Amino acid sequence: MCGIVAYIGNKQAYPFLIKGLERLEYRGYDSAGVALLDDNKLNVYKCKGKVVDLHNFISDKNIKGTIGIGHTRWATHGVPNDVNAHPHYSASKNMVMIHNGIIENYGPLKAELMKRGHIFLSDTDTEVLIHLIEDIQEKENVRLGEAIRIALNQVVGAYAIVILSKNNPDELFAAKKGSPMVIGIGVDEFYIASDATPIVEYTKNVVYLEDEEIAFIERGKDLKIKTIKNKAKTPYVQELELKLEALEKGGYDHFMLKEIYEQPRSIKDSMRGRLSSEKGVVNLGGITEYEQKFLNAKRIIIIACGTSWHAGLVAEYLFEDLARIPVEVEYASEFRYRNPIVYEDDVVIAISQSGETADTLAAIELAKSKGATIIGVCNVVGSTIARATHAGSYTHAGPEIGVASTKAFTAQVTVLTLMALRVAYMKGTISNSRFHTLISELEAIPAKIERVLKTNDKIKFIADIYKNVSNALYLGRGYSFPVALEGALKLKEISYIHAEGYPAAEMKHGPIALIDEEMPVFVIATKGTSYEKVVSNIQEVKARKGKIIAIVTEGDTQVKEMADYTIEIPETDEILVPLVSVVPLQLLSYHIAVMRGCNVDQPRNLAKSVTVE
Ligand code: G6P
Repeated sequence: MCGIVAYIGNKQAYPFLIKGLERLEYRGYDSAGVALLDDNKLNVYKCKGKVVDLHNFISDKNIKGTIGIGHTRWATHGVPNDVNAHPHYSASKNMVMIHNGIIENYGPLKAELMKRGHIFLSDTDTEVLIHLIEDIQEKENVRLGEAIRIALNQVVGAYAIVILSKNNPDELFAAKKGSPMVIGIGVDEFYIASDATPIVEYTKNVVYLEDEEIAFIERGKDLKIKTIKNKAKTPYVQELELKLEALEKGGYDHFMLKEIYEQPRSIKDSMRGRLSSEKGVVNLGGITEYEQKFLNAKRIIIIACGTSWHAGLVAEYLFEDLARIPVEVEYASEFRYRNPIVYEDDVVIAISQSGETADTLAAIELAKSKGATIIGVCNVVGSTIARATHAGSYTHAGPEIGVASTKAFTAQVTVLTLMALRVAYMKGTISNSRFHTLISELEAIPAKIERVLKTNDKIKFIADIYKNVSNALYLGRGYSFPVALEGALKLKEISYIHAEGYPAAEMKHGPIALIDEEMPVFVIATKGTSYEKVVSNIQEVKARKGKIIAIVTEGDTQVKEMADYTIEIPETDEILVPLVSVVPLQLLSYHIAVMRGCNVDQPRNLAKSVTVE
């Protein structure tokens, strides 16, 4: 994880660096630091804590300099403290480096350098790499760029690095492999960052660095790129479509709340141009050329992590139900290490909001090496996963900044529904009338979510009642089972209350032992094929004095009589219920976390983009 920023040009670097780090804080927030070169003096400031702590720490220091680098950290090697914070010095202290990623062979490299007299101040793998680079530069008597190139050929692992050297006051050196890096090109100036969010307000022209490329970023000169194998590359300049307003809170107290409320719009954006009930069509341009692969597939494998994995579970039901293709949903981290059986005619769908999750990326590479077709469902345009797949459909949810995923989930489920419908239509596994019913129902979903958002006050009232519990259980069946998992994840990740999601019928095989009068049980009990079964499960909970908070279909009377509290959602087709029923659970977690005084947008120990395995 970690976020990196750097600037070189004719303006002061610090304002860009500090604002950029705030934008990238979703990538990690346990310590932060900057380095600026002023009058041939390298000023390095770093401390444990958030970017705002760094800013306060620096308030009385010299922050001058038109060249500088900055970092916000999510600890992998070494605890979060001032010393392990980036930037890290080389042995001579003439240069400093920031790094996002993991140098896997740092142990042997460090041992070798120590034998040669190097002393390390931190526990980080990053410090080893900058020492190695300087060591090579001195030993081989080469220019810094060449020393970086040689060193990177010795490194195993992932990196996005930027190096600032006193001896090269007009040049920054950047390189990447596995971790993302974007270079914004202004007039006689360059902005470098882990993603485009810090850059967008300064320039729309960007270059996404590719793996194993080194960028030579010199003041007043054109950007030069070469690979670590010494091959010159022509920079490919692209125009950013990102809008600045999308990165602001827009009057909401938290990004998470804003993103929950954005769902009617983000779902519409994810459907725009892709379906029309009038014309009776569903079309996903990004996968048109690969439709035949879906038609020939005997199996679909879905790989993802976290909330995206939950969206994958919904997709399992959708593809099996509508397109009659067997689906396996895999945690990317398990899939990649268990010698999976992958056939050339498998279609693998990789789901990722950030498009940078290390395990998902590695799972894609593995499936690709076995000849499968890889289809991406990503939110971040141009992200590593989006580029690693054969084809795909973006979710168009807009930037998601709150660490707990909300609008990305519903956008993923929307796109996956469209995909399943398209494949079902092509395969002829869905009747015309069902196809038409589903697309008009899908078009009606944003308005239905608007209605759910209007029940916010009631949800807040319920949150107040249960805000101090230690445990919670979430139950659902069929399409609502993944929603139960997602509801539980939302609660635990932002409010630190232990919560478990379970298929309602499985409750009697374990969790039922936990139920007493203290235990809130959140049940998705909307109308559908399992309704009566879920009613029985509710009775089992009530018989053991558990508290029932049920998500029900508008007008429900049966569950209302049994439950302690109910939240009504508008009726929709059973297969589309997750898009609506997840919203009250998101709001409930949000309010409980706020009432408990938790940092909703940046929960402890988590990061939004998990670029380490
Ligand atoms: C982290 C985030 C989650 C996200 C998961 C997968 O754990 O905090 O919100 O669901 O990574 O991320 P991806 O970007 O691949 O969807």
